[in-house]
Amino acid sequence: MVDSKARGEARASGPTVADTLLGDRCPAPKPLLESRYEFLGDEDIPFSRYTSRAFFEQEIERVWGRAWQWACREEHLQEVGDTYVYDIGPYSVIVVRSAQDTIKAFLNSCTHRGTRILAAEGSGYSGGFTCPFHGWSWQLDGTIDNIPARWDFPHVCPETHDLQAVSCERWGGFVFINIDPHARPLAEYLDVLPEHFAHFPLERRRIRLHVEKTLPANWKAAQEAFMEAYHNFETHDAPNGANAQYDIFGKYVSRFIHNIGNYSTEALADYPGDKWRNPPLTEHEILQILSVFGLRHEEVPKGETARAVAAADLRERLGEQWGLDLSGVSDSLMLDSIEYHLFPNMFFFPGINIPMAYRFRPNGDDVDSCIFDLMILEPLGDAQQHPEPPEPVRVGIDESYTVVEDLAWLGAVYDEDTGNLQMQQQGFKTSRKAGLTLGNYQEARIRRVHMTLDEFMSGADTRN
Ligand code: FES
Ligand SMILES: [Fe+2]
Repeated sequence: MVDSKARGEARASGPTVADTLLGDRCPAPKPLLESRYEFLGDEDIPFSRYTSRAFFEQEIERVWGRAWQWACREEHLQEVGDTYVYDIGPYSVIVVRSAQDTIKAFLNSCTHRGTRILAAEGSGYSGGFTCPFHGWSWQLDGTIDNIPARWDFPHVCPETHDLQAVSCERWGGFVFINIDPHARPLAEYLDVLPEHFAHFPLERRRIRLHVEKTLPANWKAAQEAFMEAYHNFETHDAPNGANAQYDIFGKYVSRFIHNIGNYSTEALADYPGDKWRNPPLTEHEILQILSVFGLRHEEVPKGETARAVAAADLRERLGEQWGLDLSGVSDSLMLDSIEYHLFPNMFFFPGINIPMAYRFRPNGDDVDSCIFDLMILEPLGDAQQHPEPPEPVRVGIDESYTVVEDLAWLGAVYDEDTGNLQMQQQGFKTSRKAGLTLGNYQEARIRRVHMTLDEFMSGADTRN
């Protein structure tokens, strides 16, 4: 039943992702051919990490108060005075384009008696900041500007009463903040991301759609539902992902590559039942599965594969739609689900047809729910400037993603992905087992996040 390989060395039967990529008509760029994995252990992960209020409160202070996290995209801040309010747990941060080339961030709290300065999360515009309580005001760069009845505050000066600065850096068109006054530079956390994404510049993307939904599970359980393709067979009734590749590039960055349009009957033999493999799917049937992408082609010429036909079809159709020459883009980038994760809670997809970014964060102070931001980041045409980004579409905790028409076929998929979460969060609390069990390979990215989380919780990562 269990093979004799060393722990972590066993893999699905059938062709690997590298086999598929090397066999593609249009070859994949170098970063997609890399693979990096090491066995990280096989102990259970305590359920209390997902359910305990004490653990949650410690995360607020030691993770959300100290980790780099993306607050918004640069395209939210195109003009001087554009602001974005980002709320995380109890914290709130104002991000502002304070000058043509400068983006700054401040705690969203008045230096008089502490009042929140900007009320609503999300985009806004401000010529300067004014507290709604007694009217203290600050310039866009956080400098204290005006104090009504100044005579009563001789003890107030810029050094102590300018807005409280928050570290702010940019990468890939995202604006990151870090609340920790002693934050190490963002570059120290990005691992391979700058090198890999030099091939897939996210700066040249625009937000086509932003959907925000509250989910009924702890933020870690919710994001972990998106970190493996092991669930595809049962949750999505889909024949793909059984031989996905999982990479761990360091403490902060991991990846999966999950081929689309290339289904391994050998790998599916490890799952119950005959569906999808007996008889094996024909190339024509595979192309029918891929028709959800809006393909123009309905036939696979003899000697061709559905994967090659679909990639070529998308290159042509999307290239025309966006005014971009996609002729040199690899089949893998055109089709596959390629997902990078950055600790603690951010996902970046370099793919062209599966071009998402995700963020999972605590929902205020509720340990049992979280907020899932989903962005579709489409490539910009060659000479195109970033348009104004769309407002997020907010979907209620009990609503279906299918209410968002622009998600098209993905709406039902996100319903499936998030449909298990409430039952999982409840199951954590009724189990007699101490924790959840992870696969050594397919779920190793989840374990890596928990290991880095431990370093933050102990202070080992963030303090010298
Ligand atoms: S609390 Fe902000 S001006 Fe008084
Ligand atoms: Fe899924």
